[in-house]
Amino acid sequence: MAKKLVIGNWKMNPETSAQAARLAREVGKGARRFKKTEIALCVPHVFLGVRLLSSLRKGAQDIFYEKAGAFTGEVSAGMAKSLGARYVLVGHSERRALGDTEESINKKMRAALSAGLVPVLCVGETSRDGENHYLHKVKEELKSALKGLSRSALSRVVVAYEPVWAVGAKAKGALPPEEALHMNLFIRKAFSDVAGERAAKRLKVLYGGSVDPKNAGVFLEKGKMDGILVGRESLDPKRFLAIVRAAHGA
Ligand code: PGA
Repeated sequence: MAKKLVIGNWKMNPETSAQAARLAREVGKGARRFKKTEIALCVPHVFLGVRLLSSLRKGAQDIFYEKAGAFTGEVSAGMAKSLGARYVLVGHSERRALGDTEESINKKMRAALSAGLVPVLCVGETSRDGENHYLHKVKEELKSALKGLSRSALSRVVVAYEPVWAVGAKAKGALPPEEALHMNLFIRKAFSDVAGERAAKRLKVLYGGSVDPKNAGVFLEKGKMDGILVGRESLDPKRFLAIVRAAHGA
């Protein structure tokens, strides 16, 4: 069975590099017990140089799509890769709210893949309606992000389903677990339309949005998710590792 993937998204935390190093060390030590699970931390760019124990993989939270040049404040995929990143979140809802568009997200997917990073494409509706328009939105986000990617590039993509209304401190709560399987299958089907059935079978679909140690297992077991994208709870080593434990047992 393929390894489950648990990714912590630190967002714009913690405040100092010393705190980042401490947090990474604590999580790394605890993570040694869970060899059957791939565990990654997506850290702010300025902390990409932080040393991680070999029990952890490193990830960035975003990258810019150009390789180099006059783009003040931006960070390229190659730069993140050179600091040891394996993963990068692309199209996280908080980045979309700050200006990412379908076009820039597609360019970021290409840049990540050509630098050898694994893009974790985040998709999800901002709200739900009774007429399934939200499903259309999720499908469109997926298709536009994957547009023009080669088969071999597509086979390296990870998708995280994060309903925006379930993400962050102001969330209305997590997705009802019985919905998770439905969305998992829906995303896999939409992915298969673009990438073919074989790639869709191998695709890792993660769930993210208000995951905690109590509900994590349900998304993996009932929702048959391949992993979890954890925001707030990734800042507390004990709680994050409890989520990893749930994935490990699932
Ligand atoms: P949350 O965030 O777990 O704090 O809801 C999830 C995410 O932003 O990926």
